[in-house]
Amino acid sequence: MKNFFLAFSVIFSIVLSSACVDKSANSGNASTGGDTGDIKVGVYGDTTGATSSFGQSTKNGIQLAFDEINAAGGVNGRKLQMIFEDDQGTPEKAKTVISKLVNQDKVVAVLGEVASSNSLAAAPVAQEAKIPMITPSSTNPKVTEVGDYISRVCFIDPFQGSVMAKFAANTLKAKTAAILGDNSSDYSKGLTQFFEQEFVKLGGTIINKQTYAQKDQDFKAQLTQMRDQKPDVIYIPGYYGEVGIIAKQARELGMNQPLLGGDGWDSPELWKLGGAALKPAYISNHYSADNPAPEIQNFVKAYQAKFNVAPDSLAALAYDSAKVLADAIKRANGTDSAKLKDAINATKNFAGVTGTISLDASRNAVKSAVVLELNPAASKFDFKETIYPEGMTPPTASTSNTNTTMNTNAMSNTMNSNSMNSNTMNSNSTMNSTMNANK
Ligand code: PHE
Repeated sequence: MKNFFLAFSVIFSIVLSSACVDKSANSGNASTGGDTGDIKVGVYGDTTGATSSFGQSTKNGIQLAFDEINAAGGVNGRKLQMIFEDDQGTPEKAKTVISKLVNQDKVVAVLGEVASSNSLAAAPVAQEAKIPMITPSSTNPKVTEVGDYISRVCFIDPFQGSVMAKFAANTLKAKTAAILGDNSSDYSKGLTQFFEQEFVKLGGTIINKQTYAQKDQDFKAQLTQMRDQKPDVIYIPGYYGEVGIIAKQARELGMNQPLLGGDGWDSPELWKLGGAALKPAYISNHYSADNPAPEIQNFVKAYQAKFNVAPDSLAALAYDSAKVLADAIKRANGTDSAKLKDAINATKNFAGVTGTISLDASRNAVKSAVVLELNPAASKFDFKETIYPEGMTPPTASTSNTNTTMNTNAMSNTMNSNSMNSNTMNSNSTMNSTMNANK
C-alpha cells in the first residue's frame, strides 16, 4: 500500500510537472511555441464595432504578409498561422480576447491593437504572460511603457502632434487654432496635448478647446462656440466615425476653415460620412499609397488584388508588423519568448512599406510621417509632404529609401531644414529638384 502511494505520488508529480511545462507558451508541444509545426500568432482588433475598418485592414495586412512568407517556405521552415479575435473596439473586450489568445491558444506573439486605449488595456496581459506584443499602429506613448514585451512599428504621438502643429503654423500660416478632441480616447487626449504644446511653441494660440465622446452624433454645440472665435484652423484628433460627422456639421454651420487631423481619420468609411465637407482638410499619417517606390507599389498591387480595396495605413503597418515579427523569429532562431522579445526589440533598419523601421530604447519606431491632403472628389488622400523626426537624417538619393524615391521620381523635390529642426520634403513645391543641405 505504501509503495502504491509512493508510486502514485511519483506518477502524479510527473503528470503535474509536465502539465506545468505545457502551460508555458514555449513548451515542446508542436501546436504551440515549440520547435516544430505551425507558428501560431495572435491578432486582435475591431471588426464589428465603431472602428471596424481598423481591424479589418489590420487583419488583411497581416494575412497578406503571412501568405507571402508561407509561400516562400515559412520562417525557419515553419508556416505562420494567424489566430484572429474580434474585440469590438472596446478596451474590456480587448483584454478578454488577448487573454484567450495568450492562455488558451498559446500564441507565440500577439499583433494588435490599433486604437491606443485598447492596446493599453491588453498590453499588461501580454507583459504578465511574457508573450511579445507588437502593436502595428497604436501611437500613444504609454502603450510601450507597459513593459519590455511591448513594442510598436509606428511613430508616437508627440511626433505626430508636432507634425500637424508645424504644418498648421508653417505651411498654412495659422496663428490661431481650435481643438475638438475625443475625451474617451487616450490617443485623442495625447494628440490634443502634443499639438497644443508645439503650436504654442511656434507662436500660435489655442483659442478654443472642446471635447466629445466616441459614438456622439451631434457636435453642433461645441462647433458653434468655436465658430464664434474664428480660429484659423480646427484640429480634430479623433477617429473617422465621429470625424466624418463633425466635418459635415462644421460646414453646415458655415465654418470653412481647414480641418486638421491625424492617422485616426484613415478609413474608406470617412468619405461616406464626411463627403465634400472634408475639404479643405489635412492629416498626418504613416504612409502614402501614391508613393511610386516599387516596394510600395508591389505591396499596393498585391493587397488590391487580394482584397479588392486600396491598402490604408493600417493595412500597411499591419503588414510591416507581421514581417518584423517573422524577421525576429528568424533571428531568434525559434519562438522562445525571451529570445523573441530581445530579437524584436533589436530590430534595426528593417525596410518596411511604411518606411525604415528601427526600434529605439523605448521600443518605439523612429520614422518619418507624411502629411496628406483630403481629396473627397476622388475619395482619396493626396500626398503633400514627408516630415522627419528631429535628429533623423532624411535619406539622400544615394541611400534612397521609399520616401526619397517617391520625391525624386516625382522630380519635384525640395528639402529644407525648417526653423524647428524637423525636415520637410515637400512634393508640391514646384518643379524644383534641388536638395538643400540640412543645417
Ligand atoms: N494611432 C491610432 C491610435 O493610437 C490608431 C490608428 C493608426 C488609426 C493608424 C488609424 C490609422 O489610437
